[in-house]
Amino acid sequence: MKHILVVDDELGSRESLKVIFSETYAVSVTENAEEGLLVLAQQRVDVVLLDVMMPERDGLSLLKEIHEIYPDTPVVMISATTSVRPVVEAIQDGAYDFVSKPFDVAEIRRIVARAVERTVLHRKVTNLEGEVSRQFPVDGIIGGSQSFKKSVEDAVKAAATDSTVLICGESGTGKELVARLIHSASRRKDEPFVAVHCGALPESLMEAELFGHEKGAFTNATAQKMGRFDLAGNGTLFFDEVSEMSMATQVKLLRVLQEREFMRVGGTRVIRTNARIVAATNKDLREEVLDGRFRDDLFYRLSVVPIRLPPLRERREDVPALAIHFLNECRAGMDVATEEIDGAAMNAMCRYDWPGNVRELRNIIERLLVLNSRERVISLDILPEEFHQGPRPSYALSTGLTLHEAVSTYEREFIEQALKQAQGVQTTAAELLGTTRRILRYRMEKLEISSSVN
Ligand SMILES: Nc1ncnc2c1ncn2[C@@H]1O[C@H](COP(=O)(O)OP(=O)(O)OP(=O)(O)O)[C@@H](O)[C@H]1O
Ligand SMILES: [Mg+2]
Repeated sequence: MKHILVVDDELGSRESLKVIFSETYAVSVTENAEEGLLVLAQQRVDVVLLDVMMPERDGLSLLKEIHEIYPDTPVVMISATTSVRPVVEAIQDGAYDFVSKPFDVAEIRRIVARAVERTVLHRKVTNLEGEVSRQFPVDGIIGGSQSFKKSVEDAVKAAATDSTVLICGESGTGKELVARLIHSASRRKDEPFVAVHCGALPESLMEAELFGHEKGAFTNATAQKMGRFDLAGNGTLFFDEVSEMSMATQVKLLRVLQEREFMRVGGTRVIRTNARIVAATNKDLREEVLDGRFRDDLFYRLSVVPIRLPPLRERREDVPALAIHFLNECRAGMDVATEEIDGAAMNAMCRYDWPGNVRELRNIIERLLVLNSRERVISLDILPEEFHQGPRPSYALSTGLTLHEAVSTYEREFIEQALKQAQGVQTTAAELLGTTRRILRYRMEKLEISSSVN
């Protein structure tokens, strides 16, 4: 049953509204703003009927508050006066409609029914939007693995707040991409996103770069210059490679995070900042703190919401989707015949460790397209050498073998097993090994493995 909340100081009016509506709706009646807000906070309300004139807090001021906290809940104003002014004011402040006392029962029923309908429709649309965004967290961000999805979900949750976020992950795992996601999914999305590469500037220029400088602050300062904090305004300020920041700059940044204000170099005026801070690092910042290279107080300020991006080798199941995504993306801007990646090549890519993570994957796909633009299919043959090896053996040193011997032994075992399983059919064995028959033959010759394994 839909729920109507009545806020009216006049007993007679509360009672008649209850009679009019209690057959069709659940009706809560309250006699002042405070009680009304309490009901709204505790229960789902579909429509509010709100009296304009009340002794303590009047309906118009309550309307503003309800509209702000529950923008989707329609408020129908009730008034004894027939003057136009409060009507206009209320509609401007977001009232859904207006009825006057004494009530025209048919009219008020019609208005409330329409308002309820609008709420229902509105909730449906909002749910639907939630559904869509759960399925496709963000355009152009690929990855269905549990660990990556969790990171993206955390980023989306963080986007709804103003909390400082620290994104950690190896090089090329998508830290900047996620920082931009946090910005574009936040209410600051139409404000600037400003990035600062903390390692890129010498210490002497960093302060002016971050905070700007006044005219005459130092030689060459012929005009006032805006800093990154100014430029970010109400938007997002992204500190990339934050571990590279010098100790001196760390102190200055810490102060801004604590006070939310700064001064330009050479200036005396205190400027407030409302920028949201996101930082990223590919180092273990905790370790940097332990080694005395990063201030622990700044670390805690930055890592209010930590987000870890897993390396690609920990989420190999994302490799195919990413590879296809980059294949299509690169193809779009090039004149190439390449359309797909065959199974063996994809397997080899899934087995590879990707030290450079997603960026390396993207670069390899692009390189393959450039160098093999006439091939319709990306096959194992055209993948670089490092993809033609099986998974790395984890041989203990205690075997007493040299590296070369250990590798050969492991490789021999590996190939023999595959041949056995393939009942000696080399093409099948090569497939099992994720290599080509040509390369398998070459290895077998080198290791003197006879082709009649059984
Ligand atoms: N999940 C993903 N889906 C699609 N593209 C991705 C994804 N992750 C990363 N990329 C792409 O990979 C490249 C590297 O990502 P990004 O620059 O965000 O990484 P990074 O962690 O900031 O790297 P670095 O530490 O080297 O600065 C970019 O081209 C980015 O668009
Ligand atoms: Mg980066």
